[in-house]
Amino acid sequence: MNILIAASEAAPLAKTGGLADVCGALPKALAQLGHNVALIIPAYRSTKKFPSEPTGVELKISIAGREVRGTYRKCFIPEIGVPVYLVEHNGYFDRDGLYNSDNEDYADNCERFVFFSYAVLEAIRLLNLQVDVIHLNDWQTGLIAALQTIYYRDKPGYEKIAVLFTIHNIAYQGVFPASAMTLTGLHWKYFNWLQMECFDHLNLLKTGIVFSDGITTVSPNYAREITSSPGGCGLEDVLRARRDVLWGITNGIDVEEWNPETDKFLENHYTAATRSEGKTACKLDLQNRMDLPRRADVPVIGLVGRLTEQKGFDLAVELIYRKAAAGEDIQWVLLGSGDPILENRLRELASRYSQNVAVSIRYSNELAHQIIAGSDIFLMPSRFEPCGLTQLYSLRYGTIPVVHATGGLVDTVRDLNPETEAAKTATGILFCNADIQGITWGIDQALNIYRNRPNVWKQMQETAMNLDTSWKQSAGKYAELYKKIRRNRPET
Ligand code: ADP
Ligand code: GLC
Repeated sequence: MNILIAASEAAPLAKTGGLADVCGALPKALAQLGHNVALIIPAYRSTKKFPSEPTGVELKISIAGREVRGTYRKCFIPEIGVPVYLVEHNGYFDRDGLYNSDNEDYADNCERFVFFSYAVLEAIRLLNLQVDVIHLNDWQTGLIAALQTIYYRDKPGYEKIAVLFTIHNIAYQGVFPASAMTLTGLHWKYFNWLQMECFDHLNLLKTGIVFSDGITTVSPNYAREITSSPGGCGLEDVLRARRDVLWGITNGIDVEEWNPETDKFLENHYTAATRSEGKTACKLDLQNRMDLPRRADVPVIGLVGRLTEQKGFDLAVELIYRKAAAGEDIQWVLLGSGDPILENRLRELASRYSQNVAVSIRYSNELAHQIIAGSDIFLMPSRFEPCGLTQLYSLRYGTIPVVHATGGLVDTVRDLNPETEAAKTATGILFCNADIQGITWGIDQALNIYRNRPNVWKQMQETAMNLDTSWKQSAGKYAELYKKIRRNRPET
């Protein structure tokens, strides 16, 4: 099958979070299954570090009566040779950030992604791409579903293209003032509560949900959560109306990039069989790097993520203050950036308890790998989590995840209880409430097993490291769905 994946970020070219990991790894997995895959993303400043060629093809798009011109560049995902088309318009995309800088969203985000949306559909014609399915991701691409249905479907070459829309995070909906409707080039009649309008605003995520042939989200549990309140963030009714074509497919991980046996960011490598010495060496390295006392016997708890309300770092901060004040022998290593208030709270915490807490406020893929390898426990107190990738990375590195029982964390971490202990299927600890009692309970459980039941701990590590978290299965499920939505399209 011929698949075009459109997204606003893809690793390693441009990344702010897990969306990029997925859009970098899924095309490779689909190509390995024998599909003909191409990826299309904006040519941000960060993409310019990678070699690419101009295609020489120009595009012209009319936005609110103005002609806007751009071009396409082309590069390849290394090794597997998946082509990546980069939509180039330096005014829109050659900026410091992808969507914002200094925590302020770019004022022209709607226009930027309207341009990108047209550029994706125009690429099919201008670059002569063979496409059976366009796979869209998140609000930045939602308009493409409407444009394909309303404008392009009748054009030669577009008649049989089906559209799959994946929701990675329903909390980000691409909401703009009603006046932004004029940028889309679509008739005002589509600005109604059943299609593109939501609480008097233009809503591009809703647009994607309404106009696509099929919808997925990134775990089965999150697929259930978003069809009711509060999980649906106001779009639960829209999703319920499309329940027949809504599926949850759990994300996989790039098992080449995240492999403790070969990880290029680690000085020491290990397998499930050598994890005991291997992880200790990684732990000592991490302590060294983070200026913490070098001790193999102290439990190290790691956190990595965007500093937003979603990730629950504020709960972790409260927990760490309590544990440190009580003099508990634990080391904490935190990596993240985002909310400036939270960034400051983390800095204060680290300066107050410098023997127990190390904080790095930045984006560093290298350090993320080192924390995930060198910690004993990985904490994810997310208030909600569509899938989550860092717990999957942790599992593969034998770092036991302690997670809030929400979204994809429920689908990917198997809680330790008498049954799972006996069956040797447990891989982590889930706690029920995202509050200080919940997180304390979860961490205390984990510490108790770590300190007092080393055999159970080792078994959990072994089970976790032997799980198949690769993309293979999930890529197969996407391929099935592509087929299904093509069959179900009214005109085919
Ligand atoms: P989300 O997409 O909601 O941010 P995921 O767990 O799906 O959450 O993916 C987050 C990705 O971003 C992971 O690859 C994680 O390692 C990475 N990441 C997040 N914050 C940082 C950071 N400060 N430095 C390096 N990597 C980060
Ligand atoms: C989103 C979600 C995260 C998910 C990622 C990739 O950013 O917050 O849970 O893993 O997308 O699908």
